[in-house]
Amino acid sequence: MLEMAYDIIAGFPAEENRLVDVLSSLQQAMGYVPPAVIPIIADRMELETPAIYKVIELTPSLSLKPAFSHKLFICNGENCTRKGSFALIKQARESLAINLFETNPRGLRLEPFRCLGNCNAAPNIMLDDEIHPHMTAEKLRSLLTDWK
Ligand code: FES
Repeated sequence: MLEMAYDIIAGFPAEENRLVDVLSSLQQAMGYVPPAVIPIIADRMELETPAIYKVIELTPSLSLKPAFSHKLFICNGENCTRKGSFALIKQARESLAINLFETNPRGLRLEPFRCLGNCNAAPNIMLDDEIHPHMTAEKLRSLLTDWK
C-alpha cells in the first residue's frame, strides 16, 4: 500500500510549490494521506513535517485517516462477552493492526456493538451487513485475511 504512495511522491518534482499537488494525488489514489509518508515528503521537498501537517489540517479535502466504507462489529453484549468476545476483539485488533474505533488502510472500521440480536448463536460478529455466528478467534483470523 505504501509503495503506491512512494510512487506518487516520486512522480512529482521535488519542489515546494507542488506540495498540495502531491498531497491531493495521495488523497485521491488512497483515500487519505498516510502519516507514514509525511517524513518522506518532507525530505524530498526539503520541508519541515509540521508545515506539511498544517497544510493537511487547513485543506478540507485532505485527511490523515482513511475514510471507512466497511464495518466490523464485534458484539460485546452479555451472551457474546460470556462466550469469548474479548478474544475476538483481541484477534481483530491483531489481524487488522488497528484498535477499536479505528479504520485500517483498506477502509475497514473496527467497533464493539452492544448485542447484534443473535444471542443464541453467541459469540457473533457482523462484517458489513452479514452476521457471522459462533465465531472463534481462529475463524475470525481467517475471515480477516483479505482485509489487512
Ligand atoms: S449478546 Fe451478542 S448477539 Fe446478543
